[in-house]
Amino acid sequence: MSLDAKKKIVVHCRNIIKTYGTGASRVFALRGADLDVYEGELLMLVGPSGCGKTTFISILTALLKEDSGVCEVLGKDINALTLEQKVLFRRESIGFVFQLFNLLPALTAQENVAVPLLIQGKDRKTALKEAKTVLDSMGLGERIGALPSELSGGQQQRVAIARALVHHPKLIVCDEPTSSLDHESGQMVMKLLRNIADKEKTTLIVVTHDDRIYHFADRMAYMEDGRIIKSEMMQTGKETTK
Ligand SMILES: Nc1ncnc2c1ncn2[C@@H]1O[C@H](COP(=O)(O)OP(=O)(O)OP(=O)(O)O)[C@@H](O)[C@H]1O
Ligand SMILES: [Mg+2]
Repeated sequence: MSLDAKKKIVVHCRNIIKTYGTGASRVFALRGADLDVYEGELLMLVGPSGCGKTTFISILTALLKEDSGVCEVLGKDINALTLEQKVLFRRESIGFVFQLFNLLPALTAQENVAVPLLIQGKDRKTALKEAKTVLDSMGLGERIGALPSELSGGQQQRVAIARALVHHPKLIVCDEPTSSLDHESGQMVMKLLRNIADKEKTTLIVVTHDDRIYHFADRMAYMEDGRIIKSEMMQTGKETTK
């Protein structure tokens, strides 16, 4: 039995096709993308601008509907879910980290992190307490009362990561999480993500152009013109947390 056959599959995509628009302006964003991602793996998805990376992760997080293909995530056939089930699925099972942090500007760091818990129906006191615990663990304990505008880029991204994982999702998807950060902040952010994959068996998919963070990956998947053209294991992934 191969190593892969023993590991639990979290994402299973086959022949995903996605177009935008119609007629002469129709764009083929995905042209038959295949990918499996395993539990606890940190997979980096790389490829030239416009090759379909954001489209692909939007489909597997049920934010966007594919034209055709198979997409199973955490044992669920994404296509078979109703809109309501998709919302619930995202709320419970997925964490998102974006390039530009997407924090709510009027809320403090602690309140931003508490949002997913409040949406899940937790009371405010519990949500704020759990948010503080996660921010403490990320070295932001002193800054929980700060507004996003009062934080550095690296600190804002750490708050965004805290928000993505505070509800213990099984899958965290990050779209260019370090591209607006300086080198040091980018490394710090990746160390945090690497630790989450190692300690909580969370699966991470990280879309990136940033070759300074490739060594944090377990595996690289290369995308070109709407397809995953190859993937290869990285030797150094686990060593970077030390
Ligand atoms: N809403 C949309 N309407 C029309 N075309 C779109 C839309 N979103 C993306 N596209 C097109 O689909 C293709 C894939 O886009 P996508 O955003 O998935 O690429 P990407 O790999 O994430 O690029 P980047 O690295 O620049 O973020 C591109 O040709 C893009 O112009
Ligand atoms: Mg993109």
